[in-house]
Amino acid sequence: MSNQLTWYGHATLGLQTNGYKLLIDPFFEGNPSAPLSADNAEADFILISHGHGDHVGDAVAIARRTGATVISNFEIASWVEKQGIKVHPQHIGGGFKHPFGYLKLTLALHGSALPDGSYGGNPCGFLLTTNDGKKIYAAQDTGLFGDMKLIGEEGLDVAVIPIGDNFTMGPDDALRAVYLLQPKVVVPIHYSTWDLIAQDPHAWAQRVEQETNIKVVVLSPGESLEF
Ligand code: NI
Ligand code: MN
Repeated sequence: MSNQLTWYGHATLGLQTNGYKLLIDPFFEGNPSAPLSADNAEADFILISHGHGDHVGDAVAIARRTGATVISNFEIASWVEKQGIKVHPQHIGGGFKHPFGYLKLTLALHGSALPDGSYGGNPCGFLLTTNDGKKIYAAQDTGLFGDMKLIGEEGLDVAVIPIGDNFTMGPDDALRAVYLLQPKVVVPIHYSTWDLIAQDPHAWAQRVEQETNIKVVVLSPGESLEF
């Protein structure tokens, strides 16, 4: 049993869990920090947190090539399904036992319009309990919200949170999120893809580790964390 989280830059994550390959918000083409092209991305399941172009990204193209099932909120799943892709719709607060584990969609404070202007429902984050009982929370794009405390009460092994500011939490609120989530390990994402969200993740890591007993893992694009 093993779990491996890979950061592909921006909010794009790969998760290999007990033989299953998941991609979250697969944004490769047009992502200046992506270490590989969409043509080389592998997936059994693709999770989309909200409708923005830097999150829907290459999901449809990768799903078409690999046969992956797309999991998202009902509105985005319907939009993807119309393009001939296999989908599994869920919604916020709802969990489902997939082959790779129990996946619950969580609250996120953000927008969700799809690239063609279609309504993308409400944005979400992901809380996954793997088949070997590990819990990982991928907040994806969100502002700080107090109910992160409820997510933290589940007992998180890993939390993945944005620190880029401007469109999502910045470093100060991300530190407050760490207090609420109380994960064993936190991984910062959604920063420095463009100048508008430039941040120093190592400075943030130092702050978090000085103020809390929580470990920060700063990944470079393409790097992985085992948990
Ligand atoms: Ni967004
Ligand atoms: Mn984004």
